[in-house]
Amino acid sequence: MISFVGAGPGASDLITLRGAQRLAEADVVVWASSLVPEALLSHCRAGIELHDSATMTLEDVLAVFASHADHTPIVRLHSGDPSLYGAIAEQIEWCEAHGRGWEVVPGVSAVAAAAAAAGRELTVPGASQSVVLTRLAGRTAASMPAGEGVAAFAPHGATMAVFLSAARPDELQAELLSAGSAYHPDTPVLIVVRASWPDQQVVRTTVGRLAEDLRATGATMTVLVLVGEALADAPVPRRSHLYEPGYTTAYRLRSEDGSTAGRPSARRR
Ligand SMILES: C[S@@+](CC[C@H](N)C(=O)[O-])C[C@H]1O[C@@H](n2cnc3c(N)ncnc32)[C@H](O)[C@@H]1O
Repeated sequence: MISFVGAGPGASDLITLRGAQRLAEADVVVWASSLVPEALLSHCRAGIELHDSATMTLEDVLAVFASHADHTPIVRLHSGDPSLYGAIAEQIEWCEAHGRGWEVVPGVSAVAAAAAAAGRELTVPGASQSVVLTRLAGRTAASMPAGEGVAAFAPHGATMAVFLSAARPDELQAELLSAGSAYHPDTPVLIVVRASWPDQQVVRTTVGRLAEDLRATGATMTVLVLVGEALADAPVPRRSHLYEPGYTTAYRLRSEDGSTAGRPSARRR
């Protein structure tokens, strides 16, 4: 069985219980030392076969899979959640083509860890109800479908989480302020470097100062840039409907006096 496991953003206790269990049972682990701190390997038994994918090609990784029988517990450890920029699609394709058992164990993405580090909700009512996860095209432009990318999504003005783009601060700022963008130089930005790692940094800035402040961190990898009005250091524009007294839900119905009531909310167990 090949388990594609999300390692989480870096802290070794931000992997899921299932992910830690798969690591504890693994005979073979392929991990990305460039993105996953070594502390995550503390979940593994001693003496396992360990491969560092930072210096491997897809073919090298697949050769490791091929060299073991299907019943061998193998973990392919990806940073954050494997479904985001994880390059698992082609590995799954190989598993299917070769009749190998596989599963995906989700993880805490950098986007969640960055929001937590900054203490911010990404979907503040009245500010934004959508999150765009994207990146600059850069050297991998061939992977970017037409109509996507930072400049293409900027006219929506939704909260944006920009992955894999910290090495191009000027390009990122220019795309965020390109013609038709709903962002402006004062739009709030959070630069989160190595969210959940011991040396985590959170820089609060604006789109207009983004390039300068991003460069000043000195970081070009393991950086997530969050953009949008939801990140503002300001009172929330409107509170959530869900917990408003006058707003009914399937669990909290309107009673005769006009207030909403439901099952008692507290109990012992
Ligand atoms: C190859 S992508 C993998 C993303 C990962 N699958 C996830 O769900 O977070 C690597 C990029 O994710 C972001 N990233 C990953 N871990 C991070 C962290 N701890 N703090 C900030 N950004 C991180 C950075 O933008 C980095 O360049």
